[in-house]
Amino acid sequence: MKVTIDGQEIDVEPGTTILQAARKIGGESVPPAMCYYSKLKGSGGKCRCCLVEVSKGSDANPTPMPKLVASCVTGVMDGMEVKSITSERVVDARKSVTEFLLINHPLDCPICDQAGECDLQNLSFKNGSSKTRFIEEKRTFEPENIGPNIQLHMNRCILCYRCVMTADQLTDGRVHGVVNRGDHSQISTCISKAIDNEFSGNMIDVCPVGALTDKTFRFKQRVWFNKPYNAHRNCTKCCGKTTLWMFGEEIQRVTARKDEYHEVEEFICNECRFDHKDPKDWVIEGPRKFEKDSVINQNNYTRKLDKVVIETESQILLGREQDRKKISMTAIPLKKDEVQVFKEGQI
Ligand code: SF4
Ligand code: FES
Repeated sequence: MKVTIDGQEIDVEPGTTILQAARKIGGESVPPAMCYYSKLKGSGGKCRCCLVEVSKGSDANPTPMPKLVASCVTGVMDGMEVKSITSERVVDARKSVTEFLLINHPLDCPICDQAGECDLQNLSFKNGSSKTRFIEEKRTFEPENIGPNIQLHMNRCILCYRCVMTADQLTDGRVHGVVNRGDHSQISTCISKAIDNEFSGNMIDVCPVGALTDKTFRFKQRVWFNKPYNAHRNCTKCCGKTTLWMFGEEIQRVTARKDEYHEVEEFICNECRFDHKDPKDWVIEGPRKFEKDSVINQNNYTRKLDKVVIETESQILLGREQDRKKISMTAIPLKKDEVQVFKEGQI
């Protein structure tokens, strides 16, 4: 069946959603998605980021849909016409949804491990406002350890349900979920039970914000200083195909490989993710190409290399050295004139 999105026509299979059709077209017309995840059955319909305007229902019934619809859960009809970025109502609605999602989300990007690869950061960059109208107090929770390798920062959660679906669909015996309702909803484990399952680490990868973080990587590095390499190993539990996030010759983090919509290509096991941080454990295939526009594209290089050269960038090391000196003031030698002023008791 034929569908037209922002004036671009495409043929799709029956059962395709508007979001999937838009992704086939690509470019600016693709609606943002914070809760839909193509690898998880039943995802979508929670965040309302992906709203679009249906200006013509179908060839059989051309009546426009009166309200904006969530494109991730609305199937296309033959002859349907959709406005995404070309609709003022949609652009306005995305701004409002972004504002709504940020109501309780803390402004802690400078210390959040997800910064640089955060979907909410990217959404705010495109649709957010530089001012806030929210003067009430935000909800706050204490960080919670929900397993040996995962930390939950509920303050940052946007209740997209992706982690719950991942646990449901990849593991048997899910022990966490959304408890309470409305303003009191929160992700938690049943009676503080730890999440300890061989595939639990995938919840970190699907979380669009920094609510679920990898304890083996926390505060180690800003992601844009890491260089991502595709690598694989023989694994009996999963496909073994991963991305290694390297700083110099050190593997600082292992994640699944993600596509341009920031969704994992294949889920990986906890052994690959947490237990193999030695480059000798991996066959390094080469630097990853960057598909997604984000601050993470800093320091990227996509040229083809015959041989993978892993080296630490001298400028990064120099910057770190200077930062270290600034933090421990004694390490900074005083300049000559400052010594003079100090001796004369003027400071
Ligand atoms: S913890 Fe992350 S993945 Fe889970 S519901 Fe919250 S935002 Fe979504
Ligand atoms: S992505 Fe469609 S409602 Fe969240």
